[in-house]
Amino acid sequence: MTATTRPTAHQEDSQSMATTADPASNGRRGAPAPRRALPLVEPDAGLLERAVYVDEDVYNDELERVFARAWLYLGHDSQIPEPGDYMTTFMGEDPVILVRGSDGQVRAFLNACRHRGMRVCRAEEGNTSFFRCPYHAWTYATDGSLRGVPKFREAYEGTMAKNDWGLVQVAKIESRYGLLFGTWDEHAPSLGDYLGGFAVYLDLIFGRAKGGLEVIGGAHKWTIETNWKHPAENFACDMYHVESAHQRPAELGLMEPLELGGYEISAGLGYVGHQHNRALSSDGVDDGMPISAYWAMPNPYTYVLHEQRAAMALELGEQLARMIPLGHATIFPNFSLLDTESFRLIRVVHPLAPGRAMVYQWCIVESDLDPEVRDAVRKQYILAFGPAGLLEQDDGENWRECQNGMSGTIGRRVSTNMGLGLGQDTTATELLGTEAPGAGGGIWSEANQRQFYRHWRAFMESDSWATLRPRLSDVSF
Ligand code: FES
Ligand SMILES: [Fe+2]
Repeated sequence: MTATTRPTAHQEDSQSMATTADPASNGRRGAPAPRRALPLVEPDAGLLERAVYVDEDVYNDELERVFARAWLYLGHDSQIPEPGDYMTTFMGEDPVILVRGSDGQVRAFLNACRHRGMRVCRAEEGNTSFFRCPYHAWTYATDGSLRGVPKFREAYEGTMAKNDWGLVQVAKIESRYGLLFGTWDEHAPSLGDYLGGFAVYLDLIFGRAKGGLEVIGGAHKWTIETNWKHPAENFACDMYHVESAHQRPAELGLMEPLELGGYEISAGLGYVGHQHNRALSSDGVDDGMPISAYWAMPNPYTYVLHEQRAAMALELGEQLARMIPLGHATIFPNFSLLDTESFRLIRVVHPLAPGRAMVYQWCIVESDLDPEVRDAVRKQYILAFGPAGLLEQDDGENWRECQNGMSGTIGRRVSTNMGLGLGQDTTATELLGTEAPGAGGGIWSEANQRQFYRHWRAFMESDSWATLRPRLSDVSF
């Protein structure tokens, strides 16, 4: 990538006015040129300049080149089941409304009035037939169209083209297992193309719930003084930290010692990893096939897993079913999940600043779970990974102090070492003992993190999806 000069404020204004007047642009303009050359990112050598996490220009380029372009997680179908149901979230730093229109179709909009930019929806969730801006009361239907403009005849002489001033719409929305993803970029490939081979692992995590999925209650939301990539990398699978960072929960008897067998696998734009071949508390009643697990506390959900694993073995084969629960995963850039024998969570980590991020997290369950199992899952989720969860606190503390350690004048000049398991990478088929998509490393590996940065660099160095697509194809498995 070559460094280019940023347009002057005057040039930017001219561009903005020109395209805003064009209805086809839906009020948006193209991405500006990158602000500077990228810091050194050498995934193949396991090296990364720490400016990647702390530099303001890099961060601003990420908002343009990653978050305005990639598929981003929005919410789950079960949160907006009825016409008029809505919830608010973010895509990058942009506030967004996710709404099921009166026609039943799910859409998402920039939560900003086309008049002066006021957020038109201040609530976090609810049901409505319109969004009325609190400032001057422009009113939008749930399909985003502008319907009401005070003083339309007196002050606009009844001539303003309301059709040109609807809410800015997210270009594409697609879902998998009720998980709704959106992208601002109309040229983005389909979500299926984006996920590639990762769809197989997503199926093992979410496709095993034949009665559907739903999230429990509202979101847990909290901020962390860290760069958004620290949690994304950790959830791409970092078994390396478990014995040291989570020593206390282990001492309390909440966790079993780790097994040495495990995997990190990248496929498409997703990353998954865990240990494997551990017995569960429910295994005494089944065929004895061990599955991955590390929680020591008994939980009735393991019996549900036992049945799901048997069903998935018939569908996808025993070797793949043996992976259930699959552990940690991230889909590029900032959607993560954790699939354990006691609970499942999904989270999206919104960027707020180079050193600040905001987590939105939900406990997700099978819709047809017995109430007592559902409650046990919910409690274990809160105990471990809620905002004050035992493991979440360990992780958050480490991510914040990583950020502190690399934010100073000298700290940001130092390279990060991402070389764990370098040179030991192999195929997913080899790692799992059955034909499977992707490639990666064993349990002590940063293969997924290195792959995350191959993708990150491709996004940051590409001007459009036309140039990004072949770059991603070159580096993806
Ligand atoms: S800012 Fe929304 S109507 Fe004025
Ligand atoms: Fe952790």
